[in-house]
Amino acid sequence: MEIGIDKIGFYTPDVYIDMEKLAEARGVEPAKYTIGIGQEKMAVAPLSQDAVSMAANAALEVLDEEDRDAIDFVLFGTESGVDHSKSGAVWVHHLAGIQKYARSVELKQACYSATAAIKMAMGHISLHPESKVLVLGTDIAKYGLNTGGEPTQGAGAVAMVLSANPKILAIDTDSVSMTEDISDFWRPLYSDYAYVDGKFSNQAYLNFLTDIWGQYKERNNRDLSDFEALCFHVPYTKMGKKALKALTENASEEDTARLMGYYEPSISYNKQVGNIYTGSLYLSLLSLLEQGPLLEDNARIGLFSYGSGAVGEFFSGVVKPGYKEHMLKEEHEALLNNRRELSIKEYEEILQQSLPKDETDIELDSEASSGTVILSGVRANIREYSKKK
Ligand code: CAA
Repeated sequence: MEIGIDKIGFYTPDVYIDMEKLAEARGVEPAKYTIGIGQEKMAVAPLSQDAVSMAANAALEVLDEEDRDAIDFVLFGTESGVDHSKSGAVWVHHLAGIQKYARSVELKQACYSATAAIKMAMGHISLHPESKVLVLGTDIAKYGLNTGGEPTQGAGAVAMVLSANPKILAIDTDSVSMTEDISDFWRPLYSDYAYVDGKFSNQAYLNFLTDIWGQYKERNNRDLSDFEALCFHVPYTKMGKKALKALTENASEEDTARLMGYYEPSISYNKQVGNIYTGSLYLSLLSLLEQGPLLEDNARIGLFSYGSGAVGEFFSGVVKPGYKEHMLKEEHEALLNNRRELSIKEYEEILQQSLPKDETDIELDSEASSGTVILSGVRANIREYSKKK
């Protein structure tokens, strides 16, 4: 039985900044951000969009009544959780209207947790082939103003429905994962901002990639020639290029040309959104499937997931015949193209806003964000979400 991605939705807030303008404001050569880092635009989350509302918006884009009845497991992958106890999955379960006899939990391991969620979903579906699982990868990447990480921020969510006989990508059981206790990136419970050892994090990412790839080849008896395209965790698009270069260093000209040919379509959305942590690999997959050429039936795509701290995994899937018909290319292009550009001053104000850290109630402007679901306020320490009709 094939198990994999049956549907994939995406949401990012409706405001962004231009990376050249951010560079000018920081006294940096614009080419450093647009070429050196490889980002054009960066999504900014207003207070009324958090990890829960963004995930709900991504889910609402794809769910129909049949999904709502069949989903019995909601997995919410994030490192931007909004409560130490209650999982974001419970709110999304409600906001997305999923039938009540379901499990809902949140998973955390930096940018890796949506991959763990996919693996759990596959195990669940193999035991219960009629079930569908909703997997969410949702985050707000925040390093703070004037920090080294500032040009690599972003915000957004990817929602995937996993099922048997999927319409988009059948996922293989070929995974190789790896864990090592390192401090390349972390966010203590008291901090709204992530801490990072930037250069070390780049190196750790590449070390994980090459180590896992070596194991993967051995265990699965596969090589680059078995893959039509590769997708990577994309904290910023130049990192994806570094990853591809590392894997193709000793590859044949044919393999290198083929795999490099898919690089631009696979980062098109990431370039306009920035880092969405857990969702970034799947945003890259979405970008490849929507912006890339039609892939042949059963063409194999390799996926590398990396979450600092650190856990990595390489696995693959094959595209299903007719997958393009199930993509929401026009909707995602409209979502990205209809955003409003913020001035750097407006962005700086938004980035520094936060919800009260004490028991003060707050009501948020319901017109401030375009999503169907918004965080409308906090009352008596409870987050309140509202859903536009
Ligand atoms: N024109 C073109 N390129 C230029 C340039 C110019 N004028 N000026 C500089 N560059 C290039 C540099 O040569 C460099 O390229 P290479 O990496 O290919 O050498 C690139 O721009 C970046 O320059 P620096 O290395 O000097 O940049 P920096 O020190 O300011 O930091 C960073 C870059 C480390 C990525 C930093 O933004 C950061 O810490 N980001 C957050 C951490 C991160 O994203 N890590 C990724 C791996 S960890 C992970 O993947 C998990 C996760 O999501 C966090």
